[in-house]
Amino acid sequence: MRKIVIAGNWKMFKTRSESEEFLRGFLPHLEETPSEREVVLCPPFTDLSVMSKYLHGSLIQLGAQNVHWEENGAYTGEIAASMLTEIGVRYVIVGHSERRQYFGETDATVNLRLKAAQKHGLIPILCVGETKQQRDAGETEKLIISQLEKDLVEVDQNNLVIAYEPIWAIGTGDTCEATEANRVIGLIRSQLTNPNVSIQYGGSVKPNNIDEIMAQPEIDGALVGGASLEADSFARIVNFQ
Ligand code: 13P
Repeated sequence: MRKIVIAGNWKMFKTRSESEEFLRGFLPHLEETPSEREVVLCPPFTDLSVMSKYLHGSLIQLGAQNVHWEENGAYTGEIAASMLTEIGVRYVIVGHSERRQYFGETDATVNLRLKAAQKHGLIPILCVGETKQQRDAGETEKLIISQLEKDLVEVDQNNLVIAYEPIWAIGTGDTCEATEANRVIGLIRSQLTNPNVSIQYGGSVKPNNIDEIMAQPEIDGALVGGASLEADSFARIVNFQ
């Protein structure tokens, strides 16, 4: 069965005290959330430990925003999977377009990170998506298929979430039409060996468009940036109709 997974990607926002303040406002809203929905918060690494304590016994799962592929070693600035699992992290975002664009992430390193995450029992959220230029050139399908082919080599599809995040829709307010997101996500599903992988849409998801997005038959959830930073707005999103 495909699970509904709604995740908030906080990117480089919120100090530890700000994350605690968010939870105080957000947790009471979860009483209305159907229990079969998976709600995931992906704060900066520095917030994970304290949030893990707050969230113990709650419905929310914790996610990290990146993970290195080695067990440990001289890799300044990186975080290993065991460091995440020991503090209760369950998910990890891998291959976000901001990592690919600004930090030199390649399909090869995305693939290594996915396999390392799974080896330690973390569920990776693999991000794929095209630039505006690629979309305008009619290369969306080719790009997505190529990313999936390279990123998923030897990756276990029973333990995976995929997020379709068109880069031109991220942080721009320019949401991809729900039916178009549905079409591309259908294409992604057609490339997988396991049809039950949950596939999210990400890119300017807001309280006012979540219902339409989630009404699409191929879309199993959302990866939310800006609108996950504010407790009331993220609550409205996880409690979509
Ligand atoms: P926005 O929701 O701010 O567009 O960000 C989307 C995103 O990049 C989530 O990973």
